[in-house]
Amino acid sequence: MKYLHITLAILAIFINTSLCQTEGISVPAAASAAGASTYSCDPQVCKLANGCLCASKNPPNGLSQADTPQFVTVTFDDSIQPQLYKTAKRMLNVTNPNGCPGRGTWYVSMQYTDFSLVQQWYSSGNEIADHTFTHVGTPSDKEIVSCREMLNTYGGVPNGKIQGFRAPFLNYTKETLHQLSKLGFLYDSSASALQDDAYWPYTLDYGMANDCWTGICGSAQSKIPGLWEIPMYAVLDNTSAPQLMDVYIAGQPKDVEDWSLNTFNKHYTGGRQPFGIYVHPTHLTGYPGLPDPAPKLDGLVSLIKKLSEMPDVWFVTNQQLLQWMKNPVKASELGKQDYMRCEQPVIAKEICNGLDDDNNQNVDEGLMNSCNFGTTTFNTCFNCPSTAPTLDMPTPVTAAQNGSAGFRYPIPINCDTKWWDPIGNACLCTTNECQYKDTAVPVNRTSNGNGVVSSGPGTSSDATTQTVHLNSLFIISVCIIALFF
Ligand SMILES: *[C@@H]1O[C@H](CO)[C@@H](O)[C@H](O)[C@H]1NC(C)=O
Ligand SMILES: *[C@@H]1O[C@H](CO)[C@@H](O)[C@H](O)[C@H]1NC(C)=O
Ligand SMILES: *[C@@H]1O[C@H](CO)[C@@H](O)[C@H](O)[C@H]1NC(C)=O
Ligand SMILES: *[C@@H]1O[C@H](CO)[C@@H](O)[C@H](O)[C@H]1NC(C)=O
Ligand SMILES: *[C@@H]1O[C@H](CO)[C@@H](O)[C@H](O)[C@H]1NC(C)=O
Ligand SMILES: [Zn+2]
Repeated sequence: MKYLHITLAILAIFINTSLCQTEGISVPAAASAAGASTYSCDPQVCKLANGCLCASKNPPNGLSQADTPQFVTVTFDDSIQPQLYKTAKRMLNVTNPNGCPGRGTWYVSMQYTDFSLVQQWYSSGNEIADHTFTHVGTPSDKEIVSCREMLNTYGGVPNGKIQGFRAPFLNYTKETLHQLSKLGFLYDSSASALQDDAYWPYTLDYGMANDCWTGICGSAQSKIPGLWEIPMYAVLDNTSAPQLMDVYIAGQPKDVEDWSLNTFNKHYTGGRQPFGIYVHPTHLTGYPGLPDPAPKLDGLVSLIKKLSEMPDVWFVTNQQLLQWMKNPVKASELGKQDYMRCEQPVIAKEICNGLDDDNNQNVDEGLMNSCNFGTTTFNTCFNCPSTAPTLDMPTPVTAAQNGSAGFRYPIPINCDTKWWDPIGNACLCTTNECQYKDTAVPVNRTSNGNGVVSSGPGTSSDATTQTVHLNSLFIISVCIIALFF
């Protein structure tokens, strides 16, 4: 518990750093000990075979350390925009032990998101997850559901593949967890893990075992059978202060690499708990007039490469991680699991599926719609809405009518995005291997079939949106400048 002895000076640096991040990453120093004892779970009762798993620092099902894969999860938060997408692709440029590319997860918020890139991220084997519509902490159902609906409608991600959630600012409550369960999500990934509570993912049948300092651990209401928590693992810096998101902001690239490797090695040589790298790609992408973030990005790319060269290290999405958690296999068997394979469709012509089908280095060339509503602009393989999406009406009536020439056909429940031709209205999957049936529970909201939501009153104004955007850019600028000077 070294981090209890944080000096005032360090605390000052800490607060300063937190201000410079767009999310709440500062883990209170007086962390888990007090509340930890209130979590109790009996592995004799809570068994994986029944979909229950207790929080533990040891691998599931008594697997030995040597047989356990070392998972690394790289996650990205907030909007997907062209430059941010490039940053993310550059970071995930590694190969897993089975020869497949490393994968990652993007927690997407809606403003400024280009939905053609949502589709490209998903179709290339990565995970798309929910991060609310307007990027708010302690979100309403509507914030969570409207995000999922847009990811599905404009990004073409099957509802059943949108399984994860991360609260903006990591600001969640037990109510948030209940909402997720009610809305059919598989997991949350908003909780923080330091050293003593660096648990493998676990189900919430016996409640939360992380963030106990908030009092959540003793609470009966945090017991939510079947909902998984994937804790975010902090890295300890050279003052033993836990750094959670955007660790690269807290020090020089070489120091960040040392801190990260130290924490990684504790997991690797200990209980093989997953290790996480949690980034806001905005911090690593150049903006005119701001200091060049390239050294920080290069540092991360180099760290990721180092990790990928170690035996049994796998870069996975959070969904892949949970597929393994539900049915843990030895590291030597992992590469053969269906969920770890990476065959891509071979389709002779370019269709609007988020992939470069005709291998000419361009994805979906000439096939995307461009939807423009003043401050809201995005590309999509699907229909543009006739008005800008809002929190209350995330998927307005389509601009093109069914039956007219420009109409795009939404993905049906029996075809996965990679195989769906939204212009030709055809599923090009012809073998059993690529068959897909979306069994997602329908979202509880009324819709007239054209995507018109008949829900409660209220509007969300574009003017507000613009201000928020400028404000956050301003904060980022000030902070980056402060860090460099
Ligand atoms: C991935 O790495 C290879 C080899 O190190 C390099 O040639 C390529 O440009 C990289 N791709 C991206 C997207 O950074
Ligand atoms: C976090 O949630 C609390 C409780 O709902 C709220 O009071 C606070 O304003 C939220 N903070 C942020 C940054 O969303
Ligand atoms: C810790 O790392 C920071 C940032 O890289 C550096 O400025 C500082 O001198 C280091 N402190 C110690 C005690 O090593
Ligand atoms: C388009 O119209 C046809 C004919 O009325 C109907 O069968 C089909 O379900 C409609 N498709 C969509 C996506 O609205
Ligand atoms: C669906 O939403 C309505 C209105 O908010 C609510 O009354 C109803 O109980 C909900 N149904 C389910 C199954 O959650
Ligand atoms: Zn965020």
